[in-house]
Amino acid sequence: MCQMKERCVAVMERNKSLFLGRKIIFCVTLSALIISIETFFHQSIGTNILKPDKISNYIIAQKKPNSVFLSLVESSSDLLYVYCEIEVKNAPFIWEKDIQSWFNITNHISISHKNHSLGTVKLDLENTQSLYKNRRKGYQVLGEIIERHDLNRLRRWNGLSEYGIYSGRKATFNDVIMFSNGWIIHKTKQLAVRNGGCLSENKLQMHNVTVTRYKRVVSIAVFWGEGAWHFPMEALVGLAYVTDTEQWSSFIHVTQKNKLVLQWLKLVGINEKRVIHGTILADYLIVPETGKCGSPSQDHIQWLYKKVNISVPFKRNTVLLIKRNKSRVMPHFAKIQRFVEKFAKEANINFLLHDDNFLPSLHDQLQRFANASIVIGPHGGGMVNLIAAPKGTCVIEFSPMEANVCYMRLSYLLGLTYVAVPLYGNNTVKENKIKEALNYCQGKTNSNF
Ligand SMILES: *[C@@H]1O[C@H](CO)[C@@H](O)[C@H](O)[C@H]1NC(C)=O
Ligand SMILES: *[C@@H]1O[C@H](CO)[C@@H](O)[C@H](O)[C@H]1NC(C)=O
Ligand SMILES: *[C@@H]1O[C@H](CO)[C@@H](O)[C@H](O)[C@H]1NC(C)=O
Ligand SMILES: *[C@@H]1O[C@H](CO)[C@@H](O)[C@H](O)[C@H]1NC(C)=O
Ligand SMILES: *[C@@H]1O[C@H](CO)[C@@H](O)[C@H](O)[C@H]1NC(C)=O
Ligand SMILES: *[C@@H]1O[C@H](CO)[C@@H](O)[C@H](O)[C@H]1NC(C)=O
Ligand SMILES: *[C@@H]1O[C@H](CO)[C@@H](O)[C@H](O)[C@H]1NC(C)=O
Repeated sequence: MCQMKERCVAVMERNKSLFLGRKIIFCVTLSALIISIETFFHQSIGTNILKPDKISNYIIAQKKPNSVFLSLVESSSDLLYVYCEIEVKNAPFIWEKDIQSWFNITNHISISHKNHSLGTVKLDLENTQSLYKNRRKGYQVLGEIIERHDLNRLRRWNGLSEYGIYSGRKATFNDVIMFSNGWIIHKTKQLAVRNGGCLSENKLQMHNVTVTRYKRVVSIAVFWGEGAWHFPMEALVGLAYVTDTEQWSSFIHVTQKNKLVLQWLKLVGINEKRVIHGTILADYLIVPETGKCGSPSQDHIQWLYKKVNISVPFKRNTVLLIKRNKSRVMPHFAKIQRFVEKFAKEANINFLLHDDNFLPSLHDQLQRFANASIVIGPHGGGMVNLIAAPKGTCVIEFSPMEANVCYMRLSYLLGLTYVAVPLYGNNTVKENKIKEALNYCQGKTNSNF
């Protein structure tokens, strides 16, 4: 049995390097991978982030001996089918202390941004108060920092008060099964960890899973790592810590190989042929520290800003209004639009509507944001395009009373001028507050350009 397994592996390695094409003898290892779980968090990020498991003891009970069935079949594929039954409890996150006896962690040399200037933030009093009321300690602290206008503490606030800091780490593993939600399980040793930081599912159910085997993989797959905010700001930014050599010599593993994910990867120079998803087996796996809890580090953000490299016109004179049509639609949006258009006309600035129902390509969306001198609109995925906005852009966010400061933080770390006006539970904003914010922006941008 064991010998056959070795032979199987050898054949598969050859397949991989030959890159298929002809009739090749190939083998299948049968498996049922059943991983049962304790709890399942399905929380809305930004409103209910739970602490990661602090228990660093974790158990994978093996119910049956790891049995491997091999059969020689004809195929042009090189899939591996592992049969086993596993139960996992409390697997810790990779970066928790004292767990890396079976994988290595290295620190990336920190990216220098000493010369990078940070932005400014201005919150409506109601928004500051909503921070105090937030159940997250980190947000309460932020409310105090903002109320006291304590710039030194603001500079140090990383959004992660409860979860520690970033140090640009990278973990390397041998012989692991990697799942699309960030779980990593050793092929033979009974060990598991999870990538990510705050949110994760404790539940994995796999029956007779088929895995493709890769020699070298960089994985940025994390729980929820496929969404409009989560992919670029939590997963993709992890590549900041991966060297060019590591990147071009590896497959890039993501949560979901969807259209948006591929567009982002293309922007940072990764060809979709190298992008993989699903459950895989990696001989050698590199996992960089990703942007946990929706709070990518300054390194992460600066790296992505530079990578995206959208050209910025010499003179910017446009107010960009974001319209949400798909979800969280504002009932009186037409009125707000008329108001902003009128403001633009009077101030002699161009007006552009960014309607999420008619979005151009990702590149063109980013170009719009790079072109704008003022960006205004409700909290939501569209604002992730701020990553292309150059210093000095003024951002007005209609910020929900159930606070989520991810765009405030992004703006601040990019060196933008950020203003929050309250977005109430009934999805309305007050016109006078918008007016005040627009005038503030206009004053700022006039002095900047
Ligand atoms: C930062 O600014 C200083 C002084 O302006 C300059 O000497 C230095 O080269 C700059 N560093 C970087 C990384 O741009
Ligand atoms: C971890 O480090 C040890 C010692 O340097 C090395 O032998 C091993 O190959 C490394 N493993 C991985 C997965 O990088
Ligand atoms: C997994 O495959 C084995 C072998 O083919 C089979 O006996 C078993 O019933 C399968 N289990 C599930 C859950 O499909
Ligand atoms: C960014 O794009 C400009 C052209 O728009 C190009 O000249 C420059 O080299 C690019 N920078 C990087 C780092 O790719
Ligand atoms: C959303 O888009 C649909 C389709 O274009 C349109 O019929 C509808 O009026 C839009 N809703 C709003 C609130 O603009
Ligand atoms: C950006 O601005 C430039 C020059 O101001 C203009 O030519 C271009 O069409 C604008 N692009 C977008 C997407 O608005
Ligand atoms: C929406 O809620 C706000 C705050 O509670 C309130 O002031 C406003 O009148 C409400 N607007 C509408 C249209 O219901």
